[in-house]
Amino acid sequence: MRQIFPVTGQELEVVPRAGVGGPLPQPIRQLAALYGNEAGTTTAAGRPWLRANMISSADGASALSGRSGGLGGPADRMVFTVLRSLADVILVGAGTVRAEHYGPVAPGGVWAGLRTGKPLTPPIAVVSNSLDLDECPRLLDSSPPTIMITTDSAPQDRVAALDGRARVIRAGHDQVDVGQAVTALADLGYRQIVAEGGPHLLGQLADAGLVDELCLTISPVLAGGTVGRVVASSDEKAAATPLRLAHVLADNGFLMTRYVRSAD
Ligand SMILES: NC(=O)c1ccc[n+]([C@@H]2O[C@H](COP(=O)([O-])OP(=O)(O)OC[C@H]3O[C@@H](n4cnc5c(N)ncnc54)[C@H](OP(=O)(O)O)[C@@H]3O)[C@@H](O)[C@H]2O)c1
Repeated sequence: MRQIFPVTGQELEVVPRAGVGGPLPQPIRQLAALYGNEAGTTTAAGRPWLRANMISSADGASALSGRSGGLGGPADRMVFTVLRSLADVILVGAGTVRAEHYGPVAPGGVWAGLRTGKPLTPPIAVVSNSLDLDECPRLLDSSPPTIMITTDSAPQDRVAALDGRARVIRAGHDQVDVGQAVTALADLGYRQIVAEGGPHLLGQLADAGLVDELCLTISPVLAGGTVGRVVASSDEKAAATPLRLAHVLADNGFLMTRYVRSAD
């Protein structure tokens, strides 16, 4: 993998799998330095830093055959594990959790050397009204517990079934208010949020002006079809967040970009 913007000529050997313990491989140190937060652990507004990590095909599709996994590659997975390693919490929509059969973050899925001062793994926080986790039972009874961010109108039987098996937070009446959800995560002490989608959740976060950073991998594939973009927003104007290009890495036709919210 090569850094192609800013032009430094920096080469990073691809290390696709995370490893538990031991010294951090040099390429992982390099990558963690590249993705270190410019704004520290909070934004100027005092709320947590929210970094979205997404992948699209070259023609803008957010999934292949209903999942994002088919778009990925080794370098993208290396970035994914480093971003998870740097996170306090992973925020994700229930649609993605179901489509991608999410489980808790495994210790072998992060770099322990990047988690100094943090728990071994970050929890998954799922935004859901239905609380339907039937397709991803591994999210229950996990350590740290999965956080279910839901509403006052969530089905009571589903709420009851989560008792002692996940942490339930209410952040809205009929729909989760994503601003309230981020505040609730901040109240739990989380300062670095990595949002892994999906497009509908990301659209709401963008509309609310809560996306501080977009790490977008562009996959060398023309997907065609009618799959939507990585941000699905109902209001184009509200979603327009000016971004500054922080860096671009290239590997085997994949482009790993990092954009940070511009002050302008
Ligand atoms: N390219 C990428 O990087 C990437 C990343 C992630 C996902 N994906 C793909 O995107 C697709 C899934 O994304 P998606 O946009 O359809 O779904 P999503 O945003 O992941 O999840 C939508 C679901 O989240 C819950 N939700 C979202 N906002 C809510 C709110 N304000 N209040 C209450 N609940 C809320 C609802 O769950 P309930 O139905 O449980 O109430 C809703 O049905 C999959 O194909 C996945 O593979 C791609």
